[in-house]
Amino acid sequence: MLKNKLSSVLLASGLMAASALSQAAEVVNVYSYRQPFLVEPLFAEFSKDTGIEVNMVFAKKGLSERLEREGQLSPADLVLTTDISRLMNLVEKDLSQPVDSQSINNDIPAQYRDPEGEWFALTKRVRNIYSTKRSDKPEGITYDDLADPKYKGKICTRSGKNAYNVGLVAAYVAHNGEEATKEWLQGFKENLARRPQGNDRAQVKAIKEGVCDLSIGNSYYFGKMMT
Ligand SMILES: [Fe+2]
Repeated sequence: MLKNKLSSVLLASGLMAASALSQAAEVVNVYSYRQPFLVEPLFAEFSKDTGIEVNMVFAKKGLSERLEREGQLSPADLVLTTDISRLMNLVEKDLSQPVDSQSINNDIPAQYRDPEGEWFALTKRVRNIYSTKRSDKPEGITYDDLADPKYKGKICTRSGKNAYNVGLVAAYVAHNGEEATKEWLQGFKENLARRPQGNDRAQVKAIKEGVCDLSIGNSYYFGKMMT
């Protein structure tokens, strides 16, 4: 399994009992927010091992709305999401159902499984702090430091409403509580060099252009930008 890797596929559990039954064991229908080139090699291995065919519907957004529309007639057996917020959205809309599988429970550590078995995490990723290489670069910076007044006007970020930032803020709430998070966000906001805009990589470009010294962005973009 991928439990030691850093990245982020999250797997919502089996969806509609009816479709699972009607398909018997020959086909599994997957709705995926993960890009096909990332998951197709896994599906190919799975099909080779089991003889079970995998059908994938890929979309960047709207799969939970589609599931809602399709209701009990949905052919979907599994949903692959790219973020915990999307995953929770499926569970909260009651579009998932619990799975209790010994092999899943054996392979995925308990902290990466919903206690009710509604979802399972396959991989995770880090929301990195990217820093300038210029001479005054900050050392050993933490998330807390993003609210430190010494970084006033030095930080770039994409929108706080973006799923990645929602995930980061939710993690901060889980670690530090709501009050401390509010205070942190206030300080963080006051340190912004400009209005939130663009994607994660745009913030790193802004560091290069001297607009800011620090930004936050997912770990895999580091590799993507290096290549
Ligand atoms: Fe991304």
